[in-house]
Amino acid sequence: MTKPSILVTRAVFPEVIDRLAQYFDVDSNQQDVALDGAALRQRLAGKSGVLANAADRIDGELVAGLPALRAVCNMAVGYNNLDVPALTAAGIVATNTPDVLTETTADFGWALLMATARRVTESEHWLRAGKWERWSYDMFLGMDLYRSTLGILGMGRIGQALARRAAGFGMSVLYHNRSRLPEETERALNARYVSKTELLAQSDHLLLVLPYSAQSHHSIGAAELAQMKPSATLVNLARGGVVDDAALAVALRERRIFAAGLDVFEGEPQVHPGLLTVPNVVLTPHIASASEKTRRAMADLAADNLIAALNAGPQAGRPPSLINPEVMAHRR
Ligand code: GLV
Repeated sequence: MTKPSILVTRAVFPEVIDRLAQYFDVDSNQQDVALDGAALRQRLAGKSGVLANAADRIDGELVAGLPALRAVCNMAVGYNNLDVPALTAAGIVATNTPDVLTETTADFGWALLMATARRVTESEHWLRAGKWERWSYDMFLGMDLYRSTLGILGMGRIGQALARRAAGFGMSVLYHNRSRLPEETERALNARYVSKTELLAQSDHLLLVLPYSAQSHHSIGAAELAQMKPSATLVNLARGGVVDDAALAVALRERRIFAAGLDVFEGEPQVHPGLLTVPNVVLTPHIASASEKTRRAMADLAADNLIAALNAGPQAGRPPSLINPEVMAHRR
């Protein structure tokens, strides 16, 4: 019997390719060449499934020309790169990789927050540049985390993991979310629900962990930055586009907020040039989930989803992390 064909759009752990190859005829991009729209369309022709990356845009127009495609499995928890309603309408299963990256991403959020508030990378660059001649009482004064107010915009799994970390720092936790958490969860997290306006005004440190969508586009722009404390820090762990990066670069340059830590960018891997030239920002290349263990777990889960979605392997049928359960009734 011929195996179904799949595409793995970006390089991934070789062991995962080997596992997929037990069930599928695998076209893998282990050279990691960028597959832009046209190249992606061409490589997907005739494929039954795809193990995709958060940068691969898979929309209705693309899948309309791919009648064999039955499953799109993202190796990411965020799936704003997928047009889920269009995939569902076409009978295509869509999956992501939740849970396995929650704690690693929250750890990294904490690292970015601390580096930002305490000016870790800025002072390191200064030291490496040979500028350290003597100690001085006001060298690289930063902002405390201990007993400060932490704001969290987007209180899903990762937001809640961040709130749990705040307890060890004696912080007061405020949050805003599309829907309020049950009282019991709020109590366990010691987190208070507030309006977005209050969150902006009260937070000493504001962490962004909300999913990107048309509704969350530029949730933080010039108007919101103007409502924050001049001493506040902002950390974006969510997605580029949740923040208006151009407006943020201006606010940082003019010291309207103290500093920012960014792991995600509008139009990444491009970074707004205004952010590259201000000192009070810590920049990392979308690595919040990048621990060895977690990236392996994400790749394994994406592969499990693909194997199940294409009815291969021991767990044929319902993929473990299905985004569009309503597709099951009319899947291809
Ligand atoms: C990374 O950004 C993810 O969504 O997993």
